[in-house]
Amino acid sequence: MTTSPKNILVAVAWPYANGLSHLGHIAGAYLPADIFARYHRIAGDRVLMVSGSDAHGTPITVKADQEGVTPAEIVERYHPRFLEQWEALGISFDHFTTTMTDTHREVTQEMFLRLLDNGYLETRTTEQFYDPEAERFLPDRYVEGTCPHCGYGSARGDQCDNCGKTLDPVDLVDPRSKFSGATPEQRETEHYFILLSKLQDDLLAWLEGLEGWRNHVHNWALGFVGGGLQDRAYTRDLTWGVPIPDRAPIDARDDKRIYVWFEAVVGYLSASVEWARQRGTPDAWKDWWEDADAETYYFIGKDNIPFHAVYWPALLMGRNAGDGPALNLPTNVPANQYVTFKGEKASKSMGIGTPVLDYLQHFTPDELRYALAANLPEYTDTDIDGGELVRRVNEELAAAWGNLVNRVLAMTHKNADGVVPDPGELADDDRDLLARVDGLLAEEAELLAKVELRAALRKALEIAQETNAYLNAQEPWKTAKTDPDRTATTLNTALQAISGGALAFAPFTPFSSQQVHEWLGGEAGLEGHGWVRRELAAGTALGSPAPLFPRVELPEEDG
Ligand code: MF3
Ligand code: ZN
Repeated sequence: MTTSPKNILVAVAWPYANGLSHLGHIAGAYLPADIFARYHRIAGDRVLMVSGSDAHGTPITVKADQEGVTPAEIVERYHPRFLEQWEALGISFDHFTTTMTDTHREVTQEMFLRLLDNGYLETRTTEQFYDPEAERFLPDRYVEGTCPHCGYGSARGDQCDNCGKTLDPVDLVDPRSKFSGATPEQRETEHYFILLSKLQDDLLAWLEGLEGWRNHVHNWALGFVGGGLQDRAYTRDLTWGVPIPDRAPIDARDDKRIYVWFEAVVGYLSASVEWARQRGTPDAWKDWWEDADAETYYFIGKDNIPFHAVYWPALLMGRNAGDGPALNLPTNVPANQYVTFKGEKASKSMGIGTPVLDYLQHFTPDELRYALAANLPEYTDTDIDGGELVRRVNEELAAAWGNLVNRVLAMTHKNADGVVPDPGELADDDRDLLARVDGLLAEEAELLAKVELRAALRKALEIAQETNAYLNAQEPWKTAKTDPDRTATTLNTALQAISGGALAFAPFTPFSSQQVHEWLGGEAGLEGHGWVRRELAAGTALGSPAPLFPRVELPEEDG
């Protein structure tokens, strides 16, 4: 467990600002990141959790073209909705910005110049696809064709959704333009290339030395780098994106931009810098990036593994090769598999799935968080449907935990004037329960720190289940008539266990845990409290409980 405060950077994949998030996005990145961040904040660590709207990708320009508006208008439409969504779900970003800010441009250009100065960027004349009908160069995602690796017929120019390999559009078999459907032709164009081949050995050595990574992430990265890295174009013929910095010696700069992926990943750094500037402590970001003891975690879906486990570390290594303090490489990239609904990938660009805010018409935020956390796709794709979400809430969260809190508080109001009763002498059963709760809390902390969130949640649920079993054995509703002292001991013990439960559930269901914490006489929040069960002093006045988790029902078609 945590001994001294640590600096923990929680970096979360930047959503394309071209649509609302679905449950798959929430379960794939934002919820796990938030659970992890909240755990560390409670434990007393210094957390910086950042992300933002990914503004420059072709998903944005495709949508803008379709609607006949500017890409910036698309981003400005969705960015506020993201903020609304984080607020509603309790996703507690310290800073959620966009890649359109001045700070992002500045930090991205600085990264570019450092890579250039360190000898990792060079200009090359290359062939790029050109659409002869639309008369323009084609960005990667505007080219589709057959994957050269696995034969998948609808691979995009930047990546194959079937085998996960990153691609260059010119690798595609039978390419076609998304603008006109025409077969694109190759034309000469000049671009910067990132010399990944020069970084390959260092990357491989770094990857080989890593411990505690999920096997599917680690093995994928090892295989990818071990198979040989190709140098890749760092810039594109585009007008929407971060411009190449002035000092860089390339012609026709105005029609070229830094490739969106090599710019968006820099967002983790630029968002940290921006956060520090906005709070008037411009160097504060260094605590998470330059302090070698800081830990950095990247929460992403598996389709983002190449850019976070390979290319972003490569950029950082190339940058760190120069003078000055080095920036931290990822401590872990706990990428998730997919959540599917009845077998379909929950993806925005495929146009299926329901916006997450719609679910909040049926679930409280904590109910939805719980049901998703119980199904996090940490190791395998996880197929769920509305019925599964409802079952998790009604049969686990409400039945085991919500009812427990209500039952014990109601009994205490009835039999002990609504204050924590004097415990008197504890018997073995009482001591055993509290020892069990503390043991489960310790096991949960260990799992949370390792980003085994689904398993950690089971420990929280076990605290509730053990306390229910204890009450069923002690039967305080019966002893109330015959043995007030024993009843006081039982209720005191159950309340202490519930105090532990509130802590255990807090990273997952923060709103209700805060409520329980307050009902138990707690002040302020649990943040910085330390990952230890709060002892309730005898005589503490208790709040009057209301149901924590209203019964959930979904309309027919979702169940
Ligand atoms: N917008 C990308 C996606 O949704 C993720 C970008 S993560 C970043 O797949 F680090 F590159 F920003
Ligand atoms: Zn493929």
